[in-house]
Amino acid sequence: MALPLWRLATRPAFAAAAAASTLAAGASLSRDQTRSIPLAAVAYADDEVLHPPHITWPHSPYLASFDAAAIRRGYEVYKNVCSSCHSMNRIAFRNLVGVAYTVDEVKEMAEDIDVEDGPNEEGAMFSRPGRLADTLPAPYPNEEAARYANNGALPPDLSLITKARHGGENYLWALLTGYRDAPEGINVREGLYYNPYFAGGQIAMERALYDGAVEYDDGTEATTSQMAKDVSTFLAWAAEPEHDQRKRMGMEWIGGFTILFFGMLYMKRFKWSLYKTRRLEFR
Ligand code: HEC
Repeated sequence: MALPLWRLATRPAFAAAAAASTLAAGASLSRDQTRSIPLAAVAYADDEVLHPPHITWPHSPYLASFDAAAIRRGYEVYKNVCSSCHSMNRIAFRNLVGVAYTVDEVKEMAEDIDVEDGPNEEGAMFSRPGRLADTLPAPYPNEEAARYANNGALPPDLSLITKARHGGENYLWALLTGYRDAPEGINVREGLYYNPYFAGGQIAMERALYDGAVEYDDGTEATTSQMAKDVSTFLAWAAEPEHDQRKRMGMEWIGGFTILFFGMLYMKRFKWSLYKTRRLEFR
């Protein structure tokens, strides 16, 4: 199913189908549990999951690059919403330069944070303003603190998340926009939230995006699906910053080798023409 994003976001039938298929999955799971394996009830998390729809992203086609404006908006969403729980350890401020911001803009953004550095000549650690080489600040000092603040669940680092989940940015978009009321017959455990796209259907992350959650620099209206699209684009970029260059190099190399191929073909035929056209006579 390849639909433009805006059509998908506004289709009520899509939401209805999502809810209906989750219901069906839920029903078959409980039948399994009660009939075939009554003693050791095994429920595999991926039995009860809705696959994300395939979305045609601006960067999906072979020769398309990332939408830089979307990366920039996506960073705003990450910074204002997601960064309170999720780290992005592999992305440094300098990575944003030339992609979504100018050097001066990024320098200013980096200076807003305090980084622990050191030791200095007295052996003490000290705090200094951030600079381009620093990675984006993490919300928690360690995994224990992160779990403690989130009911025992660990918000994963988002640097490589689109590579770490089946469906990549399609999954992310579906997950972020997929929160809805649990259908009849599904008991959502305390501290969890119903989301049919998450394996098992119950996720420890609360719905994070609501219309107007951020105010975009460029004046784009911040609807839930717009923010989900932008932050998914940003995270897809973060996981594969070389994406644009990779496609461009592919184009150059394939183009170059095509020309070379015909050149070599000509040369081969030229060199062989003497042998191919000669006539041998035996007397
Ligand atoms: C209030 C804290 C909080 C905020 C804000 C938050 N998350 Fe999460 N997120 C979590 C927790 C906790 C988990 C782990 C959920 C689990 O394992 O059930 C999680 C899990 C995830 C996952 C992994 C899901 C999977 O398949 O394992 C993704 C992707 C994600 N969050 C993206 C985001 C994005 C993007 C944002 C910003 C729009 C965001 N989160 C905002 C707490 C948060």
